[in-house]
Amino acid sequence: MDIAFSPHSGHWKEMRKLLVSEFMGPKRAKLSNHVLVTEMERIIRLLSSHPPATEVNLSNMFLEIVKQMVCKVAFGSDYRRQPVKGPSWDVMLGELTMELLNGSVGDSFPFLGYFIDQFSGWNRRLNDGFKNLDTYIDTIIDDHLKHNTKEISEEDKDFVHSLLDISSKETDSGYRLNHVDLKALVMDILTGGIHTTVVTLIWVMSEINRNPRVMQKLQNEIRNCTGKIEKVGELDTTKMTYLKMVVKETLRLHPPAPLMVPHALSHTQIEGYAVFPSTTVLINAWGIARDPSNWGENVSEFYPERFENVEGDFGRDRFEMLPFGGGRRSCPAMNIAPANVEFVIASLVYWFNWELPNGMKSQELNIENGGTLVLRKNVPLCLVPTKHKWED
Ligand code: HEM
Repeated sequence: MDIAFSPHSGHWKEMRKLLVSEFMGPKRAKLSNHVLVTEMERIIRLLSSHPPATEVNLSNMFLEIVKQMVCKVAFGSDYRRQPVKGPSWDVMLGELTMELLNGSVGDSFPFLGYFIDQFSGWNRRLNDGFKNLDTYIDTIIDDHLKHNTKEISEEDKDFVHSLLDISSKETDSGYRLNHVDLKALVMDILTGGIHTTVVTLIWVMSEINRNPRVMQKLQNEIRNCTGKIEKVGELDTTKMTYLKMVVKETLRLHPPAPLMVPHALSHTQIEGYAVFPSTTVLINAWGIARDPSNWGENVSEFYPERFENVEGDFGRDRFEMLPFGGGRRSCPAMNIAPANVEFVIASLVYWFNWELPNGMKSQELNIENGGTLVLRKNVPLCLVPTKHKWED
């Protein structure tokens, strides 16, 4: 079973440990950073040669950036390269995630909903989506099995190579990774790591374009902190405090996973209510982050300054917002995901000025959202970039 839906157990612990050490650990960090810089260089070149005064679909662009990053680090391949057999990337992730994101009637009405889902064809579409995902992951693993991992240098090994190595022997704690677990780990990355990051990028760009004051302040920070540079790799976001607040404020108003993942509990009490084992408990992270008693009367305003002088990590020692969940089951990418978002946004805002298309006013930008498991922007985000000219 995969990590996210696995009950709290020794199996879950071992799988999570492997994901963190082999996908998010220092060994992979250098490669992730290199891939992200290379991809952003490509995007900056592409946007620089974009016809003037014409809009760019940023929703599609962010999906490309994140797919490329995940694919390179996890499978060592360019996502644009179609697998030799099996479904293409877009068929696999498109169908499956659309079904999952939209949720089913059975999620809300277990008994009657099951029959409605059966007759409406929802169950069949979900099964087809999973079959495609399964075939896609099998193709990737078969491809990797063609090479002897012992002949590949440690530097050139991707996530799947490392997992294949690990599966050939027991771990220090006596755990042996089998083929099904290996596939589940790859699935966690594909289903948990892509759309969450893409959705966050889209919301950051939407909010800063709806709030010109924030955009101006952010642009000043990024350009002043950086000075004049030629290469994307020279951009260092570590000291950009306002940028970090902008990303936090975006995650407060638009947590990509608003209901988190339901986990089976042991018998417990919440506010005097008895909760029995295996009860599905949905925590409304979206509502918590918009509670005026925690955030004040301007709770719906996009106001990154609210994080000035706020100490402690959300989900670790504060629970007024939970974009990455909280406690032991919190998202293992809660440190790396915001850093990647910050880097992409900093690159776009450093090199370009952005405008809404067709003379649209900032507050007219559509921010309606949809979906259940992952809350996404309903209408694609399209903006017009103009290359920033430095004064000599
Ligand atoms: C901005 C990006 C992301 C957001 C907002 C996000 C959010 C979340 C949330 C809310 C949860 C559920 C926590 C809970 O139920 O308490 C979660 C779990 C998880 N996420 Fe993320 N995530 C992001 C990126 C990623 C990435 C990049 C990966 C992997 C490559 C990932 C892998 C996982 C896994 C494996 C779990 C299950 C953890 C467990 O049950 O132990 N996430 N994430």
